[in-house]
Amino acid sequence: MSTTTDAPQAGTQDAGDALAASSSEASLQRTLARSEQIERQIETDPSAFRILTGDRPTGNLHLGHYFGTLASRVVLQDKGVDTYLVIADYQVIADRDGVGPIRERVYSLVADYLACGIDPARTTIFTHSAIPALNQLLLPFLSLVTDSELRRNPTVKAEQEATGNRPMSGLLLTYPVHQAADILFCKANLVPVGKDQLPHLEQARVVARRFDERYGRVQADQPVFPAPEALLSKATNLLGTDGQKMSKSKGNTIEIGMDADTTARILKKAVTDSDRHITYDPENRPEVSNLVLLAAMSTGRDPHAIAEEIGDGGSGALKTLVTEAVNEHFAPIRARRAELAQDPGLLERVLAEGNARAEAVAETTLDEVRRAMQMTY
Ligand code: TRP
Repeated sequence: MSTTTDAPQAGTQDAGDALAASSSEASLQRTLARSEQIERQIETDPSAFRILTGDRPTGNLHLGHYFGTLASRVVLQDKGVDTYLVIADYQVIADRDGVGPIRERVYSLVADYLACGIDPARTTIFTHSAIPALNQLLLPFLSLVTDSELRRNPTVKAEQEATGNRPMSGLLLTYPVHQAADILFCKANLVPVGKDQLPHLEQARVVARRFDERYGRVQADQPVFPAPEALLSKATNLLGTDGQKMSKSKGNTIEIGMDADTTARILKKAVTDSDRHITYDPENRPEVSNLVLLAAMSTGRDPHAIAEEIGDGGSGALKTLVTEAVNEHFAPIRARRAELAQDPGLLERVLAEGNARAEAVAETTLDEVRRAMQMTY
């Protein structure tokens, strides 16, 4: 290989710092302002956008997922934005030893999506492992990144630490590039993300730009891949029932698909404090305020108004109210979910159709990539 003459190119400049900077405060403010602008644009022209987002099938979705992202995905879909949802099964094996009960988890995700209002006629639901043309994009994309920028990706670092310094697999190191393929295969221009995922989006933007610089175009006037933008999700600040960061492994979550009795049991054991007068004061009373917030989100009411209504009723009244609020909001969703669970054939059909649609799109993109790279034989 005699590439030394044209290296380093502008496009191969190390982007590790840019990735880290994407979560800096100034950059965050810019992204937030731009997100708000995009929100307004969606109101007038939803067809200008294609969204890709998704989840790892590592367990059942909980209320943090629901209020954090799932509900807003449904809103965007209903506004007419073309939406793709990846069930990221290849991400599951990046930092663990086996696949676990992957089939059940994948179908459980599909059931959660449909129960919450995702419409498979409008939203394409697919799994990584079923889309060969998407996975093949990983090879040219890997040529566009360096190992040092991958090692400095803040999300990769955080996940590496979360595994208790288990030796890093090649897949964990490169998964941001695979995630770039998730976004770019369908030429999504908008990715709803929380701020912790911003470095990933920056990685996808870097890959899109470098592909253009290094391998060129099929049509002179437009790059093969548009640079995707973030739609920054508003932080919900919802904590677990113990007032700690919500996490399945801490057992402090309420799953979307749980029944009303289980929900009541979990909320009954929720941590509160000894002050009988209920207030909404997240700073000083995180546990009580979190329950107030959950009630507020489930009813669409203002948390201060809810706290005031309970007043001196104490944590008992608060727990009764939040349990009713959650169970009432999720009753129709849970009923639909239970129906879907009775119909595995339907879930299989939805996924098979989504996979077929995603594969067709991926094939078209891969074809363009081959042409841009002159690998057409
Ligand atoms: N990494 C995301 C998560 O853990 C899931 C995901 C996979 C994703 N591919 C994506 C999110 C592409 C946004 C865009 O939740």
